[in-house]
Amino acid sequence: MIRVCFVCLGNICRSPTAGAIMIDLVKKAGLSEAIHVESAGTGSWHVGELADPRTRDEAQKRGIKITSRAQQFGPWDFERFDYILSVDRANFQALMTIAPHDKHRAKLHMLRRFEGIEFVNSDVPDPYYGGPEGFSDVFAMCERACQGLLAYIKERHKL
Ligand code: 4NP
Repeated sequence: MIRVCFVCLGNICRSPTAGAIMIDLVKKAGLSEAIHVESAGTGSWHVGELADPRTRDEAQKRGIKITSRAQQFGPWDFERFDYILSVDRANFQALMTIAPHDKHRAKLHMLRRFEGIEFVNSDVPDPYYGGPEGFSDVFAMCERACQGLLAYIKERHKL
């Protein structure tokens, strides 16, 4: 099993979007038995909550149902996953800081890197305090990045 975790700050907007999109892509590729997908936040404020209603509405419009509940990413989680995708540089730094060992840091990637190498340092902007277009932009970025990530994993693991 290849284990993938998307990480943002609250785990109620960006990473649950990426997680649900990835689960859908993996299912459509017939790889649900090979690739396990979760999401988490570096913060703990929303632990146990469903994703933000605006996040769920945006996904629903595009045929994706988000049912995950927020969890916090802790140092121990670095052992549980093979690919850890941060939605932005701030959370990438936070993850680098809590990683127990260099072997764990090697599992960390910027999510948008898989949208194209030119986006390696690009953030998925936090939509929490903005308008509805922010949620639509987040969905589109996550969709392109997840398509790239799945292609990368399939190639690398000969799936
Ligand atoms: P997320 O968005 O990191 O994409 O889930 C946020 C959600 C909540 C907060 C910040 C960002 N917050 O400060 O509560």
